[in-house]
Amino acid sequence: MAFGKQDLQPLASAPVGAQPPQHVAVIMDGNGRWAAARGLPRVAGHRAGTQAVRRTIEAAIEAGVGWLTLYAFSSENWRRPAEEVMELTGLLRHFIRQELAELSREGVRVRVLGDRARFEPDTRAELDRAERTTLGNTRLNLNIALSYGARDEIAAAARAAAQAALDGTLDPAALTVERFERFLSTAGMPDPDLMIRTSGEHRLSNFLLWQSAYAELIFLDVLWPDFGPAEFNGALVEFARRERRFGARPA
Ligand code: FPP
Repeated sequence: MAFGKQDLQPLASAPVGAQPPQHVAVIMDGNGRWAAARGLPRVAGHRAGTQAVRRTIEAAIEAGVGWLTLYAFSSENWRRPAEEVMELTGLLRHFIRQELAELSREGVRVRVLGDRARFEPDTRAELDRAERTTLGNTRLNLNIALSYGARDEIAAAARAAAQAALDGTLDPAALTVERFERFLSTAGMPDPDLMIRTSGEHRLSNFLLWQSAYAELIFLDVLWPDFGPAEFNGALVEFARRERRFGARPA
């Protein structure tokens, strides 16, 4: 169900004793439409989207969410015009340079999911630095999905498992769901409990397909640059109202 800002309830109306989701994943969509609606170039939407990223990180920390995964650049986004790709990677580098010290002070641990080898060396260096600098932080685990595609991730995991079987370190008959997950880029991380997508589109767009098997999905009509604490907390309220059964029958 999609709902707009007007439908979002304040956090105070979450059921008593409701726990926040441990892991929230977000498909940040609508930067281009936000810019077009204002007669601005697309990059202005991405720039405004960066501010929404900052607000969302703060809201996640405030709410006690332990894991936040943001879909910042998909493996398909490389097909966008070179100028937009350059602008997006430039914004990302700028974001890390500007925000890294503050994120680290706030206890945020940054990890990058996806094929970072496709980025220029200076961008890769910034990403490595962000991961290294924040390694010891535990308050919020922030995953930034970059050049990420779930099918690529699952295929790479299958290749690694097949190689381990060839090397004799893995018995194919013993390749359970749990063992297979160790080959994914999210090995050791909790699965997302809640997946939010902005901009009114109802798709997963190749994001965390394996990991979201039991995620609650919330689609919001708001465009990503307009996303903030009210929308984030509203999604947490909606999440708290959902009954999660993980395939089991109600008691
Ligand atoms: C989708 O909007 C958004 C993206 C492809 C990029 C998301 C990037 C940011 C929010 C900024 C940088 C990120 C970080 C982590 C600092 P769209 O361009 O597809 O919008 P449209 O569907 O309206 O055209």
